Amino acid sequence: MRILSGVQSSGRLHIGNYYGAIREFVRLQEEGEALYFIANLHALNSVRDGARARELTLETAAAFIALGVDPARATLFRQSDIPEVAELYWILGTVIPMADLQNAHSYKDKLAHGAAPDFGLFGYPVLMAADILLYDSDVVPVGRDQRQHLELTIDWAGKFNRQYVPGYDSQKRTGGLLKVPAARTRDETASVPGRDGQKMSKTYNNTIDLFGTDKEIEKQIKSVKTDSTTPDAPKPTADQPLYELLKVVFSPEEFAAIDAKWREGGGDPKTHGYGAFKQTLLDGYHATFDPARKRYAELMNDRAELERLLQQGAQKARAYAAPVISRVRGAVGL
Ligand code: AMP
Ligand code: TRP
Repeated sequence: MRILSGVQSSGRLHIGNYYGAIREFVRLQEEGEALYFIANLHALNSVRDGARARELTLETAAAFIALGVDPARATLFRQSDIPEVAELYWILGTVIPMADLQNAHSYKDKLAHGAAPDFGLFGYPVLMAADILLYDSDVVPVGRDQRQHLELTIDWAGKFNRQYVPGYDSQKRTGGLLKVPAARTRDETASVPGRDGQKMSKTYNNTIDLFGTDKEIEKQIKSVKTDSTTPDAPKPTADQPLYELLKVVFSPEEFAAIDAKWREGGGDPKTHGYGAFKQTLLDGYHATFDPARKRYAELMNDRAELERLLQQGAQKARAYAAPVISRVRGAVGL
């Protein structure tokens, strides 16, 4: 089984990225041949400063490794190190209906927010499809927000195969030039709420970062939104980002004790006030992420080693891509 996924290097990573994506990547690397990449070409849609783009690419690579992606086990690479992906992007684009892209939510959302979209954003799902199809991926673990892109990829792979493979069986999906991946979305990983209760996202400025300074993290956690329930009263559990975050960060057993305290009320304000629960979250954050944060700092201090690991990953990724791009070139007549 070949597993592939990527994360854009478009900003600081937050705990939503970990619980919603990277944790699953680490688990899956035990189950098959995993390929994980830093989507630095996609990131160009939002990062328009070369030095910053380069830095964010390395930061994202260091984050993957620090959080447990093992470059000896999984193939970890930079999207831009495999230029064949841009070639497949173009070739796929020649069989993709405009309407599919006009209906893609990444594009429609941007329009709805009144922004003038660029061609890069319009073509974003095509580049993502090229990412997936270039490596003959079987399984693509993505969050719910990316499911539509995966469905489009499946459609387009079928379309390309029907166009270029005489007698291609669309039902069985075998014998194609491009392998049709299985959609595996992670519905079980609930979306992690941000400090304000919306989905945690760098665009909403409501994150708890993975690799901020201790001070920054403390400030972020202290600013999680709470209501005006008094310390001695039982706390409501609905629409409470603090409650949800505690549930995400702690194990079910640890959370059970916190939950009991949350609901009981009537205790000492020092232990039953929202401030105390924020302190608990901060302690849980440090217990969970401090080893990774230490490793991250070490990696960011050894750029040469990071670069070496990425080059090594690129070599492996290229070997996966070579037969696919060669089949495609042959079929389309290049
Ligand atoms: P993004 O940086 O938004 O492109 O997200 C990178 C990965 O992290 C994707 O697989 C997302 O599904 C996941 N992710 C981002 N934000 C959250 C969140 N608040 N909760 C769960 N998963 C998230
Ligand atoms: N679009 C994805 C995101 O924003 C990142 C991504 C790019 C990706 N190419 C991919 C994910 C291919 C899975 C497979 O999260």
